[in-house]
Amino acid sequence: MAITVQRAPLDPSDPAYRGQAVYTARTLRAYDAVVVKLSNSLVWRCPARDILAQYDRHVSAAHLDVGPGTGYYLDRCRFPVDAPAITLLDANLDVLRYAARRLERYGPATRAADVLKPIDLEPASFRSVALSYVLHCLPGSLDAKAAAFDNVIRLLAPGGVVFGTTILGTGVEHTRLARTLMRAYNRKGIFSNLDDDRSALEHCLADRFDRYELEVSGSVALFAGWMA
Ligand SMILES: C[S@@+](CC[C@H](N)C(=O)[O-])C[C@H]1O[C@@H](n2cnc3c(N)ncnc32)[C@H](O)[C@@H]1O
Repeated sequence: MAITVQRAPLDPSDPAYRGQAVYTARTLRAYDAVVVKLSNSLVWRCPARDILAQYDRHVSAAHLDVGPGTGYYLDRCRFPVDAPAITLLDANLDVLRYAARRLERYGPATRAADVLKPIDLEPASFRSVALSYVLHCLPGSLDAKAAAFDNVIRLLAPGGVVFGTTILGTGVEHTRLARTLMRAYNRKGIFSNLDDDRSALEHCLADRFDRYELEVSGSVALFAGWMA
């Protein structure tokens, strides 16, 4: 399958660069086994089935997936129609290639973009937007990361939902292994979440959405916000 070649949007000098640079064709081949299956259950204590259930609850016929990784959840979730219009947005071209190939049956559109910057897609054109395991990869405070919410809210049709998950750095009960891994990933810049906590995330949601839900499972916050 040919996907349109686009320019990588992030320069190595950009603070957001390191949060997406680790995903290569090689690491993506291991991602489902190591992150989706093992780490989600054993390290972060939020099994993939709970994240998949979140997708099943919220995906729509016009869906934007920010940071799709391997496309695991989109491949397995239940869409409300047989032929959903799916757009994959990522700063990493390897991710876009990998996920688009896996989801070829849906003919997804791809967009290389940094979610922290305004996104050049049709306003109000999506009924669901996923940000699964993306916020903990973004640099800065949760207030700064919330630019990602602002950028995707502009793309959301009335009544649409933004949903996702993020690993919190503080205020949750981490296992010793979770704490060790999280610190190592923060040193490498793969994660930037040591100061992310539930109440800051809740403020971000409450300030932007007409209605929101937030729950914590292990080290992970699961959230959804709706615009009227
Ligand atoms: C941890 S993976 C999450 C993959 C998948 N959604 C999941 O839940 O397992 C983070 C994803 O976000 C993307 N990403 C990280 N920083 C980004 C940015 N600034 N703009 C757009 N995508 C970004 C990465 O390239 C990667 O696809």
